[in-house]
Amino acid sequence: MNNTQLLFKADNVSKLFTVGTWLHRTQIAAVNNVTLSCSTEKPEIITVAGESGSGKTTLARMMLRMLEPSNGTIYFRDRDINQQRGWDSQMQFMSEVQPVFQNPFETFSPLKRVEDYLRETVINFKKAKKKPDVDNKMDEALRSVGLSLQEVRGRYPHQLSGGQLQRVSVARALIPNPSLLIADEPVSMVDASLRMSIVNLFQELKNEYDVSIVYITHDLATAYYISDRIAIMLRGSVVESGDVEKVLGSPLHPYSKLLRDSVPLPSKDPNWTKKIELSVTETKEYSRQGCKFTGRCPKVMDRCWEQEPPDFDTDGRLVRCYLYDDKPNEPSQSA
Ligand SMILES: Nc1ncnc2c1ncn2[C@@H]1O[C@H](COP(=O)(O)OP(=O)(O)OP(=O)(O)O)[C@@H](O)[C@H]1O
Ligand code: SF4
Ligand SMILES: [Mg+2]
Repeated sequence: MNNTQLLFKADNVSKLFTVGTWLHRTQIAAVNNVTLSCSTEKPEIITVAGESGSGKTTLARMMLRMLEPSNGTIYFRDRDINQQRGWDSQMQFMSEVQPVFQNPFETFSPLKRVEDYLRETVINFKKAKKKPDVDNKMDEALRSVGLSLQEVRGRYPHQLSGGQLQRVSVARALIPNPSLLIADEPVSMVDASLRMSIVNLFQELKNEYDVSIVYITHDLATAYYISDRIAIMLRGSVVESGDVEKVLGSPLHPYSKLLRDSVPLPSKDPNWTKKIELSVTETKEYSRQGCKFTGRCPKVMDRCWEQEPPDFDTDGRLVRCYLYDDKPNEPSQSA
């Protein structure tokens, strides 16, 4: 496989966890054979959406090298991120791939001024040494998120709003000049009225700074509004992925359809701020043999209970559902 054109690729990645008490120990695939990639040719916003427990954070943690996959490989550019060891390689990786977490008030200690975090990041990533240069770097990063050093100077986290603090955490993530941000529910703790401004910021970063973003969310409205592509996760598996207009506009997988039917189709109107939540389901679905949606699927067939379907390439997207098997009598290949 030639990975040179890839910014990143999660290649058939799985993560198994052992859960339960010693009497009832069981293994779940929190992430199950997921493949997701982005090329270096043009920056993209790729949404990973799915109900609670579908494996979004586990996937993000593996892509950030915070967790090793049980199976499969994660490449950044042409290199397996788990084959690189040592401090230098970690700093090199982090200068290219940066996280933005859900709760900015947890990211920053209440006892430390926010500018100190920014300063440390500038120095640790060797972006500047002398005070005026360090200040310039901090100001530049803050300006790219609509703030300035003057506005945050001397302030502690609680002296900023959730929206402002999340902007500061994005500014900090931008200091090393990353090519990829992995943002796990970055707007869920932010006031509804400010949510769109953060989401718009991601679009600006993509357009003006060529940063690709993996945007993890429950919120299909913002996903529809900013993404180029989307992967819908259900119990560890990506059940449908492709162009966001196609997947959310005319979903094919019965689970994606259910989501789409349970919400109004979001508008691309920038003032549209309504939040859409996906439903929460039972945990036994993880260990279910066959398709994870059998218990809820209105189109379930006998074969769905026996083996998990592979991905079918249908109408320009991948759909993990037997309904799109155009050769149903041939033995299916494992997903
Ligand atoms: N360290 C762990 N040990 C055992 N199980 C785990 C661990 N981390 C996650 N899980 C389980 O893996 C599954 C996927 O969790 P994950 O946090 O990735 O889901 P998520 O899609 O991010 O959910 P949410 O939307 O609630 O954040 C869940 O059942 C969770 O309980
Ligand atoms: S594979 Fe079967 S159960 Fe699963 S979504 Fe498709 S039709 Fe429904
Ligand atoms: Mg999560």
